[in-house]
Order: sequence, then C-alpha cells, then structure tokens
Amino acid sequence: MDYDDINPLPRLLMGPGPINADPRVLRAMSAQLLGQFDPQFTGYMNETMALYRGVFQTANRWTFVVDGTARSAIETVLVSVLEPGDRILVPVFGRFGHLKVEIAERVGADIRMIETEWGTVFAPEQIEAAVREHRPKLVALCHGDTSTTMAQPLADIGAICRRYDALLYVDSTATLGGMDLPVDAWQIDACSAGLQKCLGGPSGSAPITVNERVERVVAFRRHTERGIRSETDRPGEGAIIRSNYFDLAMLMDYWSERRLNHHTEATTMLYGARECARILLKEGLPNAFARHALASRAMVAGLTAMGLRLFGDLAHKMDNVTGVYIPAGVDGERVRGAMLNDFGIEIGTSFGPLVGKIWRIGAMGYNCRKDAVLITLAALETVLAAEAFRLPRGAGVDAARAVYLGKA
Ligand SMILES: Cc1ncc(COP(=O)(O)O)c(C=O)c1O
Repeated sequence: MDYDDINPLPRLLMGPGPINADPRVLRAMSAQLLGQFDPQFTGYMNETMALYRGVFQTANRWTFVVDGTARSAIETVLVSVLEPGDRILVPVFGRFGHLKVEIAERVGADIRMIETEWGTVFAPEQIEAAVREHRPKLVALCHGDTSTTMAQPLADIGAICRRYDALLYVDSTATLGGMDLPVDAWQIDACSAGLQKCLGGPSGSAPITVNERVERVVAFRRHTERGIRSETDRPGEGAIIRSNYFDLAMLMDYWSERRLNHHTEATTMLYGARECARILLKEGLPNAFARHALASRAMVAGLTAMGLRLFGDLAHKMDNVTGVYIPAGVDGERVRGAMLNDFGIEIGTSFGPLVGKIWRIGAMGYNCRKDAVLITLAALETVLAAEAFRLPRGAGVDAARAVYLGKA
C-alpha cells in the first residue's frame, strides 16, 4: 500500500483537550530509545518522579507515571484500592464522574453516588453529608470535569474525608498545571492526570501520586507476579488486585530502587512526560496558574462581548476551558466545521445532556497564549456572522485584548 507519510495540516487545538503539544515536548520525544534498566534511563525515571512531586505539590514518594491515557491512572487507583464489595462514594457533576462509577462497577465495588446538575458543583457540606451517611472507603472526585467546564472546590474535602476515615482520590486530568492543586496541603490521598491538557503534551502518559495511606491499602493486596517473585516477596493478606497492568503494588515495585520488572516503560512517553513537568516548573506553578486565569478572563470577556451566553456557574468555571451556549438558529456543528476547515481551529462539542447545546473552548497548556485566544475569537466572530448571528463586529477581540492589556 502506497500511503503518504504522516503530514497533518496545521491545527490550533482550542477545544477541551487534547491541545497542541509544546514543541520542546515533541523534541524530547524524538530522542533515541534506551534500555529500561540503562542507568541513563532509570535516572530519567527518577527525575520524572522528582519533577512530578513539584507539579503535584507533594512530598509523596510514590509519584510517577502510568503508561496509558489519563483513565489508565484512574483505573489504577480504583482497581488497586477497592476490593470487590468495598464502598466508594462518587460525587458526579459531569461525564467524568460517571466514568469513575463505571470503572468502580467493573471492580465490583459497592457504589454510592450523589449528583448535581451539569454546570454546578457541590458545596463541601453536601459531600460531608454523603460521606457521613455512606462511610465509604474511598471518595473519588474530579477537580475539573471538562464535560461541563466546572471545577469542584477541593480545599475542604480532604479534611472531611479524614474525619470519616475515607481516602480521597482526585482526578486532575483536566486541571493539573493550569489550576492550583496542592495535593499535600489539601490532604488528597491519591491524584492523577494526563499530559494532553494543561501540561502541554500528547495523551498516553498518566502522572499519578499516592501517599502512605494508599500505600498501606495497596501493600496489603500485594501479590508479586510469579515469574519475578523472590523468597522475600510474601503475598499480602488482602485480595489480589484484579488487574495486572494497573496493579499499583507492582507499579511501585517497578518504580522503586529495586526496579522489579513489570511492563516495559514507554520510553518516548516518559521523555515527553518529563519534559512537560520540566517546562511547567521552569515557568513556575504560580505563573502558569496566572496565565490560565488571565486567558479565562479574556475568553469570557470576548465571548460575552460577542453577545454569546456562557454556560454554568461561572464562579466555579475551570480556568482552562469555557462552555458557551450555541445561539438559537445557529448550527453548532457547521460552525465547528467552518472553524476547522477555514481557519484550522478546533473547538469542542459536548457530551450527554449538553450535546448540541454548548461548545467548549479551551485555552490551556501550550495553547494558553494571547495570540491563540485572540485568533480563536476573531475566527469565531467571522463564522458566526456568516450564520446570520447578529453580533457587534470586532467587539469580542477588542474586549479580550483589553483584558490582556490590563484595561478591563
Ligand atoms: C476530567 C477527565 N478525566 C478523565 C479523562 C479521560 O482522559 P483520557 O481520555 O486521557 O483517558 C478526561 C479527558 O478529557 C477528563 O477531562
């Protein structure tokens, strides 16, 4: 078969992620492969662990990457912590809450779920009441749920979970690197992410951190693979973890000084993950958070000035993605098509109850830049005007630019 080489048209990815990878990440990923036990490579593994401690703002020893997209780390936590019959509480405020329920079902957990309307988040008191009532072993929450563009306030949830002796797991796929998430200060026991959003990399590597509380649960379930086990590897008393690939105990052994072999670490993805964290920490977390917050204000100002209505509880909007109602009479998919075909810009559609109702426009990671925000607004204005949507021409870009110039 005579296929052409891979040579995609340039795109500016301004949806809810994935976004364009930072060129430095792509460069790092083109470096030559190494053997997984080469001291150079294990050195890079250790550096990656140290870098992600900085990104997660944690001192957790067990901070590394799972090979797979973001959900691989979600599954790692749930399958490794929950034995069949163990109780989990999932506060659901969008599609990715349902994902945790779905994974927990496959694990055979006893699932308790509370829901709030898409576009809203939970008050800490609501979560506390549910934890008090259900007494779960694990509470699993999204930080930002990209399906609704909402960010759940988390500062109080860790303390609530400790009061009732529950573990707290946070899925920060959509926010890590873009919004503040001090894992230790907020008493989060396990946290994971993906590279393809605020971290400015491709999907395929999932940073994860867990503390000693999780380590204890997992150690109780440790069953080292027969072919690599030694005399000293006594099986734990707990039930075996029902996944080999996502077995947190074996992953820890692989990432420990012992380097007890599990999978073959995905060399190229590790280079990418390391570079994402290195770039972010070099910028400085507070600067990166401020850059995302500024882009969010500019996007909100621009879309509003164009006469568009924003989705959801804006007090809890994620800083890196904005939901906007598709105006009546406008064909949402035709707009997305024109944005892509005429301007090379991708914006997002939505899921579930929001399909056909909102677009999701992101500005995150490498694409969280003034030029990307302004170009996206300018293109959207032109496309909407062609849809016969009456809007004040130029107002969106002017309003967003005013935010960047500090005049709004
Ligand atoms: C909050 C959240 N969790 C999980 C996922 C799933 O990530 P992945 O597609 O990388 O497995 C996403 C993807 O958008 C997400 O936004």
